[in-house]
Amino acid sequence: MIRPANSTIVSCRNVTKTFRQGSTDVMALRGVDLDVFAGQLTLLVGPSGCGKTTLLSVIAGILDQTAGEISVLDQDLNHFSPTDKVLFRGREIGFVFQHYNLLPALTAVENAAVPLIIAGQPRRRAIEKSRELLESMGMADRLDSRPSKLSGGEQQRVAIARALVHEPRLVVCDEPTSALDGHTGHKIMESLRQIAVRPDRAVLVVTHDNRVFDLGDRIAHLDDGKITQIEE
Ligand SMILES: Nc1ncnc2c1ncn2[C@@H]1O[C@H](COP(=O)(O)OP(=O)(O)O)[C@@H](O)[C@H]1O
Ligand SMILES: [Mg+2]
Repeated sequence: MIRPANSTIVSCRNVTKTFRQGSTDVMALRGVDLDVFAGQLTLLVGPSGCGKTTLLSVIAGILDQTAGEISVLDQDLNHFSPTDKVLFRGREIGFVFQHYNLLPALTAVENAAVPLIIAGQPRRRAIEKSRELLESMGMADRLDSRPSKLSGGEQQRVAIARALVHEPRLVVCDEPTSALDGHTGHKIMESLRQIAVRPDRAVLVVTHDNRVFDLGDRIAHLDDGKITQIEE
């Protein structure tokens, strides 16, 4: 189903998350209200330890929130069985991590094809799609390189291609530029913006790199587990 531009892809209402550590509770999220819209790059910014990764994890269904409501594409992931949750995530959500998390034994084009192969697509079609995507990202001469032969920026491009190859409607990225120098980080964010943001897709990027703030359509500020400000 194609959604109209700016439809709501993620909605969080009064979301809390408490981690139990020994006999103490760490309250990482203290009542988060946040909407993430299709057709936009939303940045989630805030100091280290304020709950950014926790919020991404509950939105993506990797962690369960303690209280509050989250809907992703109008679904409440808490109502899914563990298997259905994994299937939903595999189909609808793409992830980009800080440290790329590529498989060292696979080439660039194979790494980016992994979500399609997991989804059961024939290998040749999966590789073909991955190749086209990587080529569109300026990686035509790196397709057959293994991660150890790629620069940080190139590895992150492969990781972004892997997050997009199955055409998910939500893409979440946790500090995708923090392991890169400023110039490379900015270029990665520009290409993420260019290639990932589509009318039917929302992109949510956690960053505390203020050099990329200018690229966001919306900037949500998180501090001590609460959204303090949203800049449009
Ligand atoms: N698995 C965990 N167990 C206990 N405490 C955690 C866990 N994950 C995160 N926290 C705590 O929750 C708070 C928010 O962490 P996090 O979401 O990683 O922040 P950020 O990504 O903004 O740096 C921190 O105080 C952190 O120590
Ligand atoms: Mg974090």
